[in-house]
Amino acid sequence: MDDIPAKLQVADEAPVTTLRRKLAHGLVESCRRGAPAMAPKVRHEDVSFFLDKEMFAREQRKFFRDMPLVACLSNQLEPGAFRTFDLPGVPMIVVRAKDGKVRAFLNICRHRGARIVREDCGNASRFTCRFHGWTYDNAGKAVGIPEESQFCSEIDAEKNLIPCPAEERHGLVFVQATPNGRMDLDAHLGEFAKELAIIELDKAIPVFVEDLPFRANWKYAIDTFFETYHLNSLHKDTFRGLFSPHCVFETFGRHHRYTFAPKIVHDWVDMPESEWNLHLVPLQYFLFPNTIIAVGSTTPSGSTVGMHNLFPHAVDSFTDRFSFCAMHGVRSEEHRAEIRDSFEKSKVAVCREDYSVTSEAQAALAVLPKGTTFPIGRLEIGVDNFHRNVRELVDA
Ligand code: FES
Ligand SMILES: [Fe+2]
Repeated sequence: MDDIPAKLQVADEAPVTTLRRKLAHGLVESCRRGAPAMAPKVRHEDVSFFLDKEMFAREQRKFFRDMPLVACLSNQLEPGAFRTFDLPGVPMIVVRAKDGKVRAFLNICRHRGARIVREDCGNASRFTCRFHGWTYDNAGKAVGIPEESQFCSEIDAEKNLIPCPAEERHGLVFVQATPNGRMDLDAHLGEFAKELAIIELDKAIPVFVEDLPFRANWKYAIDTFFETYHLNSLHKDTFRGLFSPHCVFETFGRHHRYTFAPKIVHDWVDMPESEWNLHLVPLQYFLFPNTIIAVGSTTPSGSTVGMHNLFPHAVDSFTDRFSFCAMHGVRSEEHRAEIRDSFEKSKVAVCREDYSVTSEAQAALAVLPKGTTFPIGRLEIGVDNFHRNVRELVDA
């Protein structure tokens, strides 16, 4: 927050409000100038970006095996709880033991490779493989092996679950699908860690979680979160007229924050700052490579946080694990109803509009002549940034 001019600092103000104040000034300034933030030039993206199986294989390795990924919110993993998820080709389980420590393992039995935990989430201190009944504790140790004497008893390492790195930062659980590997989370987050500290996800209490599977390329789906160019057309029944093309865009290494302007910001140009409703300034984040976090007051009585974790299964399919949270928790039944309403509206926009068009397009992309490119306009600044980062890593 060192970059907020002293005149904008307000004593005892919550850091997130100070951040919104800074961004509100940026949006008002953009409206005054009449010039939205834009990418330096039009990007021409080859259609193979969404189709190429070899490119997907490189993404699997570089993004989904060798890079820290958000597994869930810290508050989605109470002591004694577990969650499973599937990275491309890698079934994972993340657990929190009673001592509070978070651990991750390959969700693969050491006896013959069967999937051990088949539920998405739950509470358990032991996991039993359904094939021959090997049982593991939540530290990964094999603690029950039927007819154990028939197996070589002294080699424990051959029987225990294979660990992967897991750590928490600022209300998020990160894992890396590198068996027996190391994770440099601080290097991965860089300056973005300070931004995460400001939004206090450790106070975000999950209220609704749903898996949304779609037949489309995961990057095509991510693109829809970082351009407002489509709002008035695709979202004409949900968001039309609510936002303007002005935005404030900031990068933190490969991660970014994309703040688009509610229409009312145009009125703020001629209003005293004290009358700006800063809660209307949305904070939309991208944690490279596959997590979108939207912090906003979409309910009348308080902030909500929506998190989309996109887990690809193949070049043309993914599941979005959509978690919807209330900051500081649900205060009453009316509050819960408000949050449910907001969650359902978000799902309509994402599933029936964004991902619906995404899936429809995916099926047709392969028909296009080889070498076909799509223009990414200068206004589509978040999309441009994401593609540049993917290209830098995958084409290297
Ligand atoms: S594969 Fe799990 S117990 Fe045999
Ligand atoms: Fe959209």
